Amino acid sequence: MSKVTVTPKSLVVLEDVVKTYHMGEVDVTALNHTDLVLDRGEFVVILGPSGSGKTTLLNLIGGIDSPTAGRIVIDGEDISHYRQRELTMFRRRTVGFVFQFFNLIPTLTARENVDFALQLSDRDRRSGKHRETSAQLLAKVGLSERLEHFPSQLSGGEQQRVAVARALAKKPALVLGDEPTGNLDFRTGKLVLSAMREVNRLLGTTVVIVTHNQPLAAAADRVLHFREGRISRIEVNAHPVPPEDVEW
Ligand SMILES: Nc1ncnc2c1ncn2[C@@H]1O[C@H](COP(=O)(O)OP(=O)(O)O)[C@@H](O)[C@H]1O
Ligand SMILES: [Mg+2]
Repeated sequence: MSKVTVTPKSLVVLEDVVKTYHMGEVDVTALNHTDLVLDRGEFVVILGPSGSGKTTLLNLIGGIDSPTAGRIVIDGEDISHYRQRELTMFRRRTVGFVFQFFNLIPTLTARENVDFALQLSDRDRRSGKHRETSAQLLAKVGLSERLEHFPSQLSGGEQQRVAVARALAKKPALVLGDEPTGNLDFRTGKLVLSAMREVNRLLGTTVVIVTHNQPLAAAADRVLHFREGRISRIEVNAHPVPPEDVEW
């Protein structure tokens, strides 16, 4: 009998998932028999000490890595036993990533960085037809005035908002951020999180973010607390605070 309850709203389902890394003679169990269901449209924050398994969880639900045991179903697709190639296709279809170090292409403008992501996700890859969409996405994250700027001409917070627009380009069901505010001051981090919340509300995208900025958890619908490879506690915020209103 399964311990998790899956409904049509479930987007992410983990059943008894284990991830063990083999380091020579040593085995490190980074995720230890984890069950988890995330619904479509949820905005989830993950908190926990360094080494508690947060990145491992994101990598598994984002199809960057495979579980050692257990079952992972994302948007109805069982990815537990996918090979590299299948995982790549799955990621392209379903997941947008926002990284700690922005990872924008330095020789492309803000708009071109988003265009490029649109082209990658588009089967016919016609260039030019994406320019309008990119501008709209950048407007959603508050960057209408920065379309033709290069990354080096943007602040850290602006670069990260370009990265958010880029992650959204293909309208993924799931957006994952591993410490997306980790390299930003608190005020700027809040702007980035606001952009992600806005998109979550407008497009119904499920957003999962790992952060060290504990106060930001007040902005989430649910907070998963990690400890030693397990979810030790789940907090539900009946009234999540807008990220821009979170107090330090
Ligand atoms: N690629 C890897 N190879 C070996 N051990 C790893 C690897 N990735 C993570 N680990 C180990 O797994 C545990 C969980 O790591 P991680 O998921 O990165 O935690 P967090 O993101 O919470 O800091 C840690 O003990 C870490 O050292
Ligand atoms: Mg980590």
